[in-house]
Amino acid sequence: MTVAIVRSTTELRSTIAAWRAQGERIAVVPTMGALHAGHLSLVSAAMNLADRVIVTLFVNPRQFGNATDLATYPRTETEDAAKLGPLGAHLLYAPGETEMYPAGFATTVSVSGVSEGLCGAYRPGHFDGVATVVTKLFLQTGADIAVFGEKDFQQLHVVRRMARDLDIPIEIVGCPTVREPDGLALSSRNVRLSNREREIAPKLAMIMSDAARKLVSAIAAEPILQEAKAAIVAAGYREVEYLELRAEDDLSPLKRADRPARLLAAAWLGQTRLIDNVKVGPPGSA
Ligand code: PAF
Repeated sequence: MTVAIVRSTTELRSTIAAWRAQGERIAVVPTMGALHAGHLSLVSAAMNLADRVIVTLFVNPRQFGNATDLATYPRTETEDAAKLGPLGAHLLYAPGETEMYPAGFATTVSVSGVSEGLCGAYRPGHFDGVATVVTKLFLQTGADIAVFGEKDFQQLHVVRRMARDLDIPIEIVGCPTVREPDGLALSSRNVRLSNREREIAPKLAMIMSDAARKLVSAIAAEPILQEAKAAIVAAGYREVEYLELRAEDDLSPLKRADRPARLLAAAWLGQTRLIDNVKVGPPGSA
């Protein structure tokens, strides 16, 4: 089975109108393509939640601060479409840049609070770009449900806040991070890692899980965070941008894990920036 590809909002809306007329429930899975098992797990989750599943594929220039990162972002639409067919996804919405941002486009959706700090501090404008494109995708599809990965934990919070604040009637579902057998979180950027970097890469998740276990009972997070940062660099990462303990429900900074929490990190491995997050909770919950 092959998935139908639609490139215009007009065609998207007419397809969706026919589904709506039959009373069908619609889910959307926003992606930038280069689909891996993590994305496919989101599609499978969406298939269980709705009658129709739309996967969107748009490499959104407005969320890239770095022109090289945008230019080298993997673009694999044919392979992506081939992966979606067997899962039974109903539509791949892959608009071009002028369809999404026609001449004169002048609106930005900006979410304060949860988009500040963490990645927001190191990627200025990134979450404005995400919130703007995701708002458009929600309005274009009119979906009942949207499925996102917890790998981008801060993004999930930004999207939830945006939908709530703008009264967009959509349920946001977060799905657990999918990992390689050695623990490395799946990411479209992993293909950029050299063989040597690929060997080092899983140490980030390993060190974070170890720190998360210690944080459960620690009276102060800071020494554990400092020790973990040093361990990440000693493992071969070039730089740790941040490693922070935040509340799971609203991302507020925590001095100790005295409420359900996440440990979140971004670190550079050579020229590749990797992010990850782990739950800080009772054994088995990570
Ligand atoms: O997570 C992503 O791939 C992107 O940030 C998203 C949500 C598709 C918006 O471009």
